[in-house]
Amino acid sequence: MSLLISGGTVVDPAQGLEEARDLLIDNGKIAALEPPGAIPGEGRRLLDARGLVVTPGLIDMHVHLREPGEEYKETIESGARAAVKGGFTAVACMPNTQPVNDTASVTRFILDQAARAGLARVYPVAAVSVGSEGQALSEYGDLKAAGAVALSDDGRPVMNPLLMRRALEYAKTFGLPIISHCEDLDLRADGVMHEGLVSLELGLWGIPAAAEEVMVFRDINLAYLTGARLHIAHVSTFGSVQIIRWAKSVGIEVTAETAPHYFSLTDEAVRGYDTNAKVNPSLRTAEDVAAIKEGLADGTLDAIASDHAPHSSLEKDVEFGAAAFGLIGLETSLGLSLKLVHDNVLTLSQLVAQMSTNPARILGVPGGTLKPGSPADVTLLDLNREWQVDVTTFASKSRNCPFNGWTLQGRAVMTIVGGKVVSSEQ
Ligand code: DOR
Ligand code: ZN
Repeated sequence: MSLLISGGTVVDPAQGLEEARDLLIDNGKIAALEPPGAIPGEGRRLLDARGLVVTPGLIDMHVHLREPGEEYKETIESGARAAVKGGFTAVACMPNTQPVNDTASVTRFILDQAARAGLARVYPVAAVSVGSEGQALSEYGDLKAAGAVALSDDGRPVMNPLLMRRALEYAKTFGLPIISHCEDLDLRADGVMHEGLVSLELGLWGIPAAAEEVMVFRDINLAYLTGARLHIAHVSTFGSVQIIRWAKSVGIEVTAETAPHYFSLTDEAVRGYDTNAKVNPSLRTAEDVAAIKEGLADGTLDAIASDHAPHSSLEKDVEFGAAAFGLIGLETSLGLSLKLVHDNVLTLSQLVAQMSTNPARILGVPGGTLKPGSPADVTLLDLNREWQVDVTTFASKSRNCPFNGWTLQGRAVMTIVGGKVVSSEQ
């Protein structure tokens, strides 16, 4: 049966649309998008969206789902459930599983598990190098044929610049973007948090902003050399934003994302040695946070992705230095990002572009728009609903969230994938 979503405000940056529209879904596709009242309701399932915002399904282009290998932290099913609860109709999952997703069989396994879960679409990102060990390139043609949409050794940088050059050249022949985790491991040394006043006061080894920035510059330089598609993951510093802004201004093809924790928290969150604030890259300073917001506002940063990185108490209920890096974000990403709209940093249309339109374009996947003929991946938002973050209610298997107890304004109230309601609070 077809579904008519009426009375809502449709925000679809791909069509330059932000106004009242009724949306008809039929056969898993967007069948029509018309002014209010223009689509007859008879014989259709009706959904009253008055007071709600209707957007193309949100896409989180950077998550860790931990399956295969660390199912005690997350599975593809639990991660996909967290995704749809958070308003995401699709996620791209990083390859640092066990085994690493460096072969077609692992890529196919991920897609099979995602199909079995039947919740969000899951797009596998495959490894740049075998085992993500930075020694030999994996087989990009096989990986693409199996369904990989991008390549990354995320969790680690590709330290060898020659291997990175070859990876960019090889990826270019298959039209695959490389998503770079920019971190110079020698500069990072034994660091566990941002290097600055707070690390000094806490007596923790610091990681300088330069550990990220020198690699952002190196990879942009290599993107220029090779003409390949480079996407910079989890941008966290003032300097990285400046470098990317410059690169775009001179016409180098590069895209970039940041994560909600980089515009919501500073290194002050590490006081008290909260291991949920231990993340890679590190939480930075107020100056960096301001630069990240500016980068989003002026389009230097193309996307907001959660870098959802589940860990259990085994990895987190330990002393700060020994804890794993990472925090979960699928169920808070939208609420934290909407704060940028409420604070007039971004327009709603910009936010939807950064959480749907642009990720779809960067990954070359369907969705990201409500144009008739597109897959019926839709998110319904209540921008004003206040709610409290409570990790005990999360669909994720993990609890490593530094935002527990925060009050956020705005959340997804319904998530539709391929015309099927996969999450609903109505
Ligand atoms: O904090 C992080 N956690 N950063 C990464 O790059 C990897 C991730 C993980 O896999 O836990
Ligand atoms: Zn990373």
